[in-house]
Amino acid sequence: MSTTVIILAAGKGTRMRSKLPKVLQPLAGQPLLGHVIHTAKQLHAQNIITIYGHGGDLVKNSFQHEHIQWVEQAEQLGTGHAVQVTLPVLAQDGISLILYGDVPLVRQQTLEQLLAASSETGIGMITLTVDNPTGYGRIVRDNGKIQAIVEHKDASDEQRQIQEINTGIYCVSNAKLHEWLPKLSNNNAQGEYYLTDIVAMAVAEGLEIASIQPEQAFEVEGVNDRIQLAALEREFQAQQALELMRQGVTLTDPKRFDLRGNLKVGHDVRIDINVIIEGDCELGDGVEIGAGCVLKNTKIAAGTKVQPYSIFDGAIVGEDTQIGPFARLRPGAKLANEVHIGNFVEVKNTSIGLGSKANHFTYLGDAEVGAGSNIGAGTITCNYDGANKHKTMIGDAVFIGSNSSLVAPVKVGSGATVGAGSVITRDVAENALAFERAQQVEKANYQRPQKTKK
Ligand code: UD1
Ligand code: CA
Repeated sequence: MSTTVIILAAGKGTRMRSKLPKVLQPLAGQPLLGHVIHTAKQLHAQNIITIYGHGGDLVKNSFQHEHIQWVEQAEQLGTGHAVQVTLPVLAQDGISLILYGDVPLVRQQTLEQLLAASSETGIGMITLTVDNPTGYGRIVRDNGKIQAIVEHKDASDEQRQIQEINTGIYCVSNAKLHEWLPKLSNNNAQGEYYLTDIVAMAVAEGLEIASIQPEQAFEVEGVNDRIQLAALEREFQAQQALELMRQGVTLTDPKRFDLRGNLKVGHDVRIDINVIIEGDCELGDGVEIGAGCVLKNTKIAAGTKVQPYSIFDGAIVGEDTQIGPFARLRPGAKLANEVHIGNFVEVKNTSIGLGSKANHFTYLGDAEVGAGSNIGAGTITCNYDGANKHKTMIGDAVFIGSNSSLVAPVKVGSGATVGAGSVITRDVAENALAFERAQQVEKANYQRPQKTKK
């Protein structure tokens, strides 16, 4: 049977107190709605229909590259009305899963279970038994069979004692949606078209309503404010941390680890506390990441050790290198094996060859460094003339003395030596020594100025 996923995402989210539409608020670096779309895609749904309203085009444009059908609900007249507006584009056959753009963490397995449970009678739902059901729709059962959903505001005192609540996630055959939704009325405490009323319609037709409960409550929890958003962020991070530990990663403290994207790992990777990983990253066998590092779209090969507080963005790092502490690798940094990059060294759009070292206070931008070269403390590639960027080419086995400026475009040939404190503006030949400095002046037995007495 073909599956459609219908995602309700038209609400305003007043309690977020944000200019950003609620479904675009990020969780683990991805909009809430993005998580739901991701899960829908894992289900191989034939069609994903998203109902949007508040935030209009901003919401739509954020998912331009996704195969999604967008239906506008200009006025939010209730959850039933929201699904009603999809009827003109909803297939006549097949079955639909109804999800929410602000309930981001429902799992694929749970939805598959719901689909399976609902296939017989064509209607099923996810419920949850909670300690405090206030505010939620209550599941009214008779002899164990679901009879109706009663909204909190419409419920009697007796019904308010019911602890089984409606999560709002359903699975309904499209034929029934076409039949039932046009019959909804807004004759209730909130004057809204309640989607929940289809349950009573199903019961009236003698259909049995299947129900399942999720493995964990966070799967069906929605985000209405930033407090709930933070809570779900931690749930999500905890799940990711568990998964990484199962894969053999050592996390010094899984509660102080954040992954906002995808991480591929080899064996025996160790990650110390407060590390943030964003985008697509890869860590090879035995890689160690020190405390407080931030890695974005970066690949680090086996055996490399990263000391604390190093920042990577778009870097490719070879095997057995040593990085940091306090190193900054920017886009286009490409390090071969056994390279050493030390404290306060910034590398941008620069390749560094096998075993070369830049251990202290250095900027390497738009440069190529060969193998076995040593870049002294305080070396700067002056790559920018105020208008254009230029390249610095440094060969193999070069020694750059401390505090040198290499004014690009410039080449330093293999085996060359640059004396400390030089400003190099012309190419240096292979194996040559180049330095640029004033003669040292010396005055014997020099008397320092004395403090004048007042
Ligand atoms: C709904 C259920 C309630 C359930 C609860 C779970 C109904 C009538 N009630 O109540 O039984 O316990 O969810 O959280 O369905 N939305 C639209 N367009 C609309 C109205 C809502 O897109 O016209 C979206 C909202 O943005 C939100 C979701 O649907 O993401 C739920 O709407 P909301 O008004 O919060 O429903 P509840 O009153 O919480
Ligand atoms: Ca709600």
